Amino acid sequence: MAEGTGFAKTILFGEHFVVQGSHAIGASLSKEMKVKITPSEELKLNIKTGQIVLDASRAILDSFDLSGNYLIEVETDIPSGAGMGWSAAFSVALVRAAAVEKGTFLDWEEVAERAYAGEKVFHGNPSGIDNTLASRKGAILFKRGEKPVPIELKEPLHILIMHTGKMGITKDLVAGVAKIKEEKPEFFSDLMEKEEKLVFEAKVALESGDLEKLGALMDLNQEYLRQVGVSAPELEKVISVAKNSGALGAKLTGAGGGGCAIALFKSKKDTDSIRHSIGTKYSFFEAQIG
Ligand code: MEV
Repeated sequence: MAEGTGFAKTILFGEHFVVQGSHAIGASLSKEMKVKITPSEELKLNIKTGQIVLDASRAILDSFDLSGNYLIEVETDIPSGAGMGWSAAFSVALVRAAAVEKGTFLDWEEVAERAYAGEKVFHGNPSGIDNTLASRKGAILFKRGEKPVPIELKEPLHILIMHTGKMGITKDLVAGVAKIKEEKPEFFSDLMEKEEKLVFEAKVALESGDLEKLGALMDLNQEYLRQVGVSAPELEKVISVAKNSGALGAKLTGAGGGGCAIALFKSKKDTDSIRHSIGTKYSFFEAQIG
């Protein structure tokens, strides 16, 4: 028997554009996934999932030359299809469990790299940001193919993650953005340039604790995401509830099409008061980042 852990994540800036080569910033959340593997007669999970989870598991186990079968037991409170990185947390936790099974030590960057094999099965052409965020605590500046850069926040961020209740399918949403890039190359490269500038402004704002600026950048990032067609009416609804309740900024997080939106508040007290405005219609999760 061997065990491993991975974290849920939230992307603060740059999702989708990061797939096409720009930078993005994200952070891990305190929600975790634990995976336990025990040799078994067939490859199976203790939860009801699609074949894709078994296929991703096989890819990860094979990459460790663990060709036998296992019972994979998953324990988590991370919702799936919500933009909080269920598949990345699973891939990372399984990599850690497989490394224990093999008696191999991996640091967080190696764990993230190995977990990409699972993420590729889940999402086709992922940037690798989700598995990177799922492998360690804290915030990261990420660019495809480059060494991830940890970011030190000047002060903690009080974020409310609001779940629309609608599932978003990452693979399809990523493909939709790639289609826009192909059909409107100039429009897309202009947006990529703007997004890249925004991400670096956000990094400075995170490091200097400029919350007002961060909020404004979140709103602007949401506008760019709308322009590539990955927002959804349900997301717009929760974003406007958050903004009307005093959020400094709000945007979708992750792949969009549903899933979750994040809203930034000045303090923990403010996130408490918005709970009443949101009521019971949407589920939400409060997170402190940094
Ligand atoms: C999904 O959490 C983030 C996307 O940018 C996809 C990726 O980076 O692979 C939409």
